[in-house]
Amino acid sequence: MDIDLRRVVADAGRLGFSEQDLPGVERMAVNVLTDPELSAELAGRAELLRAGIGRFAVDGPDPWAGLPDAPDAGAIPMLALLATAPDVVAHQLGRGVPEAQAWRNLSDLGQQVRVHRLAYGRFGLHNQGWLRTVWAGGFAWLGRLQFNAQPLPGGEWVLSTHIPRRGSDGAPRSGALSPEAVDDSFARARRFYAKHFPDLPATHFWCRSWLLAPELAAALPGSNIAAFQQRWTLDDQIEHGDDDAVYFTFARRASYDLRRLPRTTRLERAVASRLEQGEHWTLRSGRIPRATFPPGR
Ligand SMILES: CC(C)(COP(=O)(O)OP(=O)(O)OC[C@H]1O[C@@H](n2cnc3c(N)ncnc32)[C@H](O)[C@@H]1OP(=O)(O)O)[C@@H](O)C(=O)NCCC(=O)NCCS
Repeated sequence: MDIDLRRVVADAGRLGFSEQDLPGVERMAVNVLTDPELSAELAGRAELLRAGIGRFAVDGPDPWAGLPDAPDAGAIPMLALLATAPDVVAHQLGRGVPEAQAWRNLSDLGQQVRVHRLAYGRFGLHNQGWLRTVWAGGFAWLGRLQFNAQPLPGGEWVLSTHIPRRGSDGAPRSGALSPEAVDDSFARARRFYAKHFPDLPATHFWCRSWLLAPELAAALPGSNIAAFQQRWTLDDQIEHGDDDAVYFTFARRASYDLRRLPRTTRLERAVASRLEQGEHWTLRSGRIPRATFPPGR
């Protein structure tokens, strides 16, 4: 597959990259596309990514197989994602999604590059594994929340719900998790999937997150986070949540020095002090019937 440098850089401008990150895209694209070996590797991985469009279960061959899963190892994945963005957009246009919304849906790429900067202090990408779900073509960023249609292990289709990080860095549409914004997103998702993905019979929203842990809601009474947690009917599965709690609160991956984490907000204080006391956070899964929300705009 031929990859056009100018088009890749232009598309990055539509995919949520910050002004600070756009020059990094151009530098990286020049480095890779002027090296025949790297270019060939990029083309092969982009082909695999493209073959996954429409496979909403994300069950095809892994385009990142054999690449290190580490900070700063995301150059080839980032370019492969950029190079195939028009194909994912075309898939959604084929389902009647308006073009601006289709690009918006993929702009989680730029958001993940912002998160890399937040976590590691520099341009890069490390969440390329997650972005395969976005690039499968059944993903939508609708107001405050994001969704993708996916089958659970038993085969039931659900609208999996994702909560992008609130932006202190000017990221678009990612403010507080207010109940009104959440209601609006669910209503929009109900309509979006009925209209554009009527072939995927999801009757429930579903979410697997550290934000669904009851002990988190208990630690933050009256907060948006607590109100969000209380919407969900949880299943019995309880997973370890310490790493997610630290990553999503402080943008730090292991290893971190607990004593040096900031304590400015209630969440920061709650997360750090529970860990200091030798207790743990959990990760839970839950569901909400899709019909709870009005069909939406
Ligand atoms: C979920 C999220 C958007 C909620 O933000 P919010 O609506 O501002 O949350 P609340 O109003 O309930 O916040 C309660 C308290 O926690 C603080 N807080 C919330 N999220 C915070 C964060 N990521 N970092 C630091 N403090 C945070 C708030 O400032 C508030 O404390 P304060 O009263 O001392 O100011 C935010 O926590 C976030 O960006 N999380 C990361 C994304 C995430 O976890 N996604 C799920 C992945 S599975």
